[in-house]
Amino acid sequence: MTDAKGLGRNAANYGDRDFALYLRRSFAKSMGYSREALARPVVGIADTGSELNNCHRTAPELIEAVKRGVLMAGGLPLSFPTISLCEPFLSPCSMHYRNLMALDTEAMIAAQPMDAVVLVGGCDKTVPAQLMAAASAGIPAVQLVVGPMSANRFQGERLAACTDCRRYWARYRAGDVSQERIEEVEGSLATTAGTCGVMGTASTMACIAATLGFMPLEAASIPATHADRLRAAEAAGAQAVRLIHKPVPPAALITPESVENALRVLLALGGSTNALVHLAAIAGRCGVAVDYHRLNELSETTPVLVDLKPTGEGYMEDFHAAGGMRALLHEIRDLLHLGCTDLDGRTLAERIGDGPSFVDRAYIKPRAAPVSPVGGLVALFGSLAPEGAILKRSAATPALFEHEARCLVFDGLEDLANRIDDEALDVTPSDILILKGAGPLSAAGMPEAGYLPIPKKLARQGVKDMVRMSDCRMSGTAFGTVVLHIAPEAVAGGPLALVETGDRVRLSVAERRLDLLVDEATLAARRARWSPPPAPARGWDALVRREVLQAPQGADLRFLLPDGGAR
Ligand code: FES
Repeated sequence: MTDAKGLGRNAANYGDRDFALYLRRSFAKSMGYSREALARPVVGIADTGSELNNCHRTAPELIEAVKRGVLMAGGLPLSFPTISLCEPFLSPCSMHYRNLMALDTEAMIAAQPMDAVVLVGGCDKTVPAQLMAAASAGIPAVQLVVGPMSANRFQGERLAACTDCRRYWARYRAGDVSQERIEEVEGSLATTAGTCGVMGTASTMACIAATLGFMPLEAASIPATHADRLRAAEAAGAQAVRLIHKPVPPAALITPESVENALRVLLALGGSTNALVHLAAIAGRCGVAVDYHRLNELSETTPVLVDLKPTGEGYMEDFHAAGGMRALLHEIRDLLHLGCTDLDGRTLAERIGDGPSFVDRAYIKPRAAPVSPVGGLVALFGSLAPEGAILKRSAATPALFEHEARCLVFDGLEDLANRIDDEALDVTPSDILILKGAGPLSAAGMPEAGYLPIPKKLARQGVKDMVRMSDCRMSGTAFGTVVLHIAPEAVAGGPLALVETGDRVRLSVAERRLDLLVDEATLAARRARWSPPPAPARGWDALVRREVLQAPQGADLRFLLPDGGAR
């Protein structure tokens, strides 16, 4: 029954609804709830706490605080587990399971009795999966993130995974850092609960969720261990109860204007390339497309203002103390659609107000003195990427922006691992390294492998960056001249599938081009010989191969889009 509320929603179907609810109440009473408690509106709390997710270590205490907020506001909080995804603990990679988490979360929101839901997420893929789920499930949803970890102090420097992990590992590979030292650093990189402490994917997605209106602006960056994080959780619980009385469906917050605001924020943050795929997936659930040509227009008129790693120097705790999202949005308010509303119906203009009373300009720059006058990301098009590719120019080497060279091709991750450090590898610093066969449809599942390691023999010579290209992703915490998300990917039979070692490839950031300089007759002969790798026979992997869309469409499952992926 559509007008059912609270525990009466979504009755099990025995052909006798009154019996189904009688049975449900009697089973609920076995957990000690009174009839009065069970008569309250229900707030579900999606619990992603897991002993295989270090980032979400504080989920239990956050959920306690959410419950407090729900109870104080007159609701009944009921938490339920969903899939949890933590970047380093999943094979082949967490991205392979983002859509599975979205599917699981949507199904559990839609099937269980709840009037609103608080989504407790944080680590890279969890917030996108939860917002995709919320958009499709349709009941009011509040996003709560676990918050970023705090930076550690280690022998005179600050460390807070994972830009620092990569920096140390690159130095270890180059022979700059000893075995003893790298082992010592291992225990000092991530020393509190919370998500990676830089402007990686988790932080970027938290800022985007706040921009879209799914949480207060300040809640995007409160450190995981700060008492304010618990107060944000309590407030999220109370907010969910308010939404039950005055519902705002998630789709109302995901509009062409709000998505454009999110893109502006992504650019001004110098945020993660991954966020582009995730935002396309979230928007796609509401029939809103992320257009790469529009991204380029926005990128030309949006400065990078946030000076955090990997683009700059600071950590998320610095961003928060510097004024956080309110300070950033105040700085770019003339570029935003200020009429977009949040869960409380407040416009973005109202949420920004006059900005915070204090802004630390070391981390949030004024428009007159930006980190970069243009946005961090650009889309590239050309014969190698007819549907587009992405470069994070704010984390790349400007001297490599205009680059034509022969390429060295690795056909999948195994080939890369087997050959990249071979002393006999025929490679020079000006060569372009290409990895293919690692896109969304591949068995690898679009991993964060686009940051191909510099071949050891070149790293030892001091080479710090090379042009690297692939159909996979890069960690939001990584840096370098790395072209990502090439579409169509190699497994889909895109031009990338036809590239061979020795071909010449041209990158032009100025022209937004990515071209394979091989004549059409040669490509036609290669195409005639090409066949896709065998499809997995069963299970999730088989469904991924059959249904996953390309990166510019968010790499979502085709059948979960309102138009079945027809776009
Ligand atoms: Fe969870 Fe980086 S591993 S946010």
